[in-house]
Amino acid sequence: MHSFVYRANALLTLGVTVLALMCAMASLSDNLNVPSPSAHVHVLNINWFQRQRDGNDEVSLTLNISANLQSMFTWNTKQAFVFLSAEYETPKNSLNQVSLWDGIIPSQEHAKFWIHATNKYRFADQGSNLRGKEFNLTLHWHVMPKTGRMFADKIVMTGYRLPEEYR
Ligand SMILES: *[C@@H]1O[C@H](CO)[C@@H](O)[C@H](O)[C@H]1NC(C)=O
Ligand SMILES: *[C@@H]1O[C@H](CO)[C@@H](O)[C@H](O)[C@H]1NC(C)=O
Repeated sequence: MHSFVYRANALLTLGVTVLALMCAMASLSDNLNVPSPSAHVHVLNINWFQRQRDGNDEVSLTLNISANLQSMFTWNTKQAFVFLSAEYETPKNSLNQVSLWDGIIPSQEHAKFWIHATNKYRFADQGSNLRGKEFNLTLHWHVMPKTGRMFADKIVMTGYRLPEEYR
């Protein structure tokens, strides 16, 4: 009898120790889960590129936007808002930012995607600065948690350039 209680107690102690260890490992692995989002955008086509009657340059692009933002999602994530912007310099402004596309990612399984689309919002300059212009494409995201604060981040993709001539 005595030895049975002793054994049960020893087992219980072992159980609690294992549980504590598992909790420690779980929280450690949570901290080790470093987010590693990725994004790539290919300009598949310049559909047209013109100087509009108001004197402003405007271009229509067909894009392949692919991204994997799955590591941004946790049990606490409600959804994420993403948008793609073109960013470039002109003599007047050091940063011109034009939003081209946006979307809402409702869940982790939708956070790895690629879409083939023409720019949803107009890529127009305030002036005629776009010929031969180098630009960056930046994928921004805002992650909305179920509780706690929203956070935002982005990936900058460099090395894009518009044609020298209107077409
Ligand atoms: C878009 O990019 C993805 C990932 O790089 C690729 O799998 C897909 O075939 C591309 N689609 C088009 C239409 O180019
Ligand atoms: C593109 O992004 C790079 C890196 O952030 C930056 O150094 C460069 O000035 C940007 N280029 C343009 C045209 O905005």
